[in-house]
Amino acid sequence: MDSRLRCRELKSKVMSAKEAAKFFKDGMVVGTSGFTPAGYPKAVPLEIANRAKNGEKIGLTIITGASVGPELDGELSESGVMKRRYPYQTNSTCRNKINNSDINYCDMHLSHTPQWVKYGFFGNMDIAIVEAVAITKEGHIIPSTSIGNSNVFVEYADKIIVEINTSQPLELEGIHDIYNVDIPPFRKPIPLTKVDDKIGTNYINCNKEKILGIVFTDIKDKTRPVSKIDDVSKKMADNLIEFLENEVRENRLPENLLPLQSGVGSVANAVMGGLVNSKFKDLVVYSEVIQDSVIDLIEAGKVKFASGTSLTISPERLDDFYSKFNNYKDKLILRPQEISNSPEIARRLGVIAINTAIEVDIYGNVNSTNIMGSRMMNGIGGSGDFARNGYLTIFTTESIAKNGDISSIVPMVSHHDHSEHDVMVIVTEQGVADLRGLSPKERAIKIIENCAHPDYKEALYKYFNEACEGKYKHTPHVLSKSLSWHDRFMKTGSMQNKESLSQNN
Ligand code: COA
Repeated sequence: MDSRLRCRELKSKVMSAKEAAKFFKDGMVVGTSGFTPAGYPKAVPLEIANRAKNGEKIGLTIITGASVGPELDGELSESGVMKRRYPYQTNSTCRNKINNSDINYCDMHLSHTPQWVKYGFFGNMDIAIVEAVAITKEGHIIPSTSIGNSNVFVEYADKIIVEINTSQPLELEGIHDIYNVDIPPFRKPIPLTKVDDKIGTNYINCNKEKILGIVFTDIKDKTRPVSKIDDVSKKMADNLIEFLENEVRENRLPENLLPLQSGVGSVANAVMGGLVNSKFKDLVVYSEVIQDSVIDLIEAGKVKFASGTSLTISPERLDDFYSKFNNYKDKLILRPQEISNSPEIARRLGVIAINTAIEVDIYGNVNSTNIMGSRMMNGIGGSGDFARNGYLTIFTTESIAKNGDISSIVPMVSHHDHSEHDVMVIVTEQGVADLRGLSPKERAIKIIENCAHPDYKEALYKYFNEACEGKYKHTPHVLSKSLSWHDRFMKTGSMQNKESLSQNN
């Protein structure tokens, strides 16, 4: 206990998770640590959920860094405690309740969350629950596998509960770099000009008077296994790498590229994984999540430094990772998401932003969040922070979904996350559409020709040609038909116009 809780005055604050859970009252706004299923509080949320399961009326607004594990998003959704949620989630129970309007969800850019707390846009924050590996002699908090918004919540919440998690190794101490950003009109430039710059402290500055309770737990992060890299993802990765190699040949990128940001999910992991077999070396990563593929790249000698806000290592990899942790420690840094996702830094460093789309339209607009225009998947996450400010903004998607019943290239996106003004390059397993500097009509031809699946190419051209009929159209659409593909899928289970196919036959 002494190595984990080094502040004598705080020893009297140690309590059980059940006791800590009693501090939460109906209607409170609660900020928690956690970004992906890494570094989120576990023991206290489980006990809050138990209170509700035992019949107590308790509804909370939950603000996190990003998605968190099942003990938090799953249990608080299931038990009905979660009434309002910001800024991002990936839990299936939480998602279903959001889509059923049991939870009010405001999907937002991850760089906005910390400043909204600071600006008071969410109202007052009552309690922060923060996971830590240790508390220093002075009462400061050493975070665990993620930082997310913890530093901001610790500063702005009225009270704090710390979960010291003994399953998180003490060796993590030193990997964090906590820097505070002032609010306007006092904000200054963030003094970070290289991916490996260290600009802050190893700990979160904490006023120990605000600590309500300290709970010890050893519940492990519930990180998810990484899905295998299939042929389609490999093709996407190959297409992307070929594109980047060409950028180097054309002198638009240096030989070791620029800092890479990569999104979440199986496709993003495969794309990053593909770099292991590429010619590139001395790469650097400036992203949110450091996942297995980045560790593979470090091990392969391809990546020399990676900066993120969360360390999300798959369960099968975790023991090996920590056994060799000292080999990685000087190549990794975790920052608050206010810094990892800062538009200022993304633009200054010239980040190559690689994120995943659910669907893309023929003009280059991207939907990353809503299935068939209505059903929330996860959220925009940090993709917009990087996409708007990247040196190069790339979106990847398989050209079809649901065994070919859906074309991911559509006449018009059914929900809009990233506009044609931010999207520079589309990559599918079919090929690459480089949209830089193209007019909408040129973009449409490039996207259909290079990225659409052969089964949908003809229908996309048909739509585009019909839309181009008539004069004075810059971004041609047939409004009565622009979302008809989605409508057809909802009615028939396929975007393919089977009637017209059989008539043509
Ligand atoms: N229409 C309908 N459904 C589609 C679709 C489309 N055009 N394209 C994909 N899907 C479905 C898949 O079938 C799959 O469904 P399932 O869960 O029922 O199997 C689901 O969407 C996820 O697709 P998958 O191919 O497994 O991709 P993924 O795991 O790589 O996730 C996103 C893709 C877009 C959902 C994910 O990357 C995301 O949430 N992105 C937004 C946040 C973000 O970009 N953050 C990055 C900065 S951290």
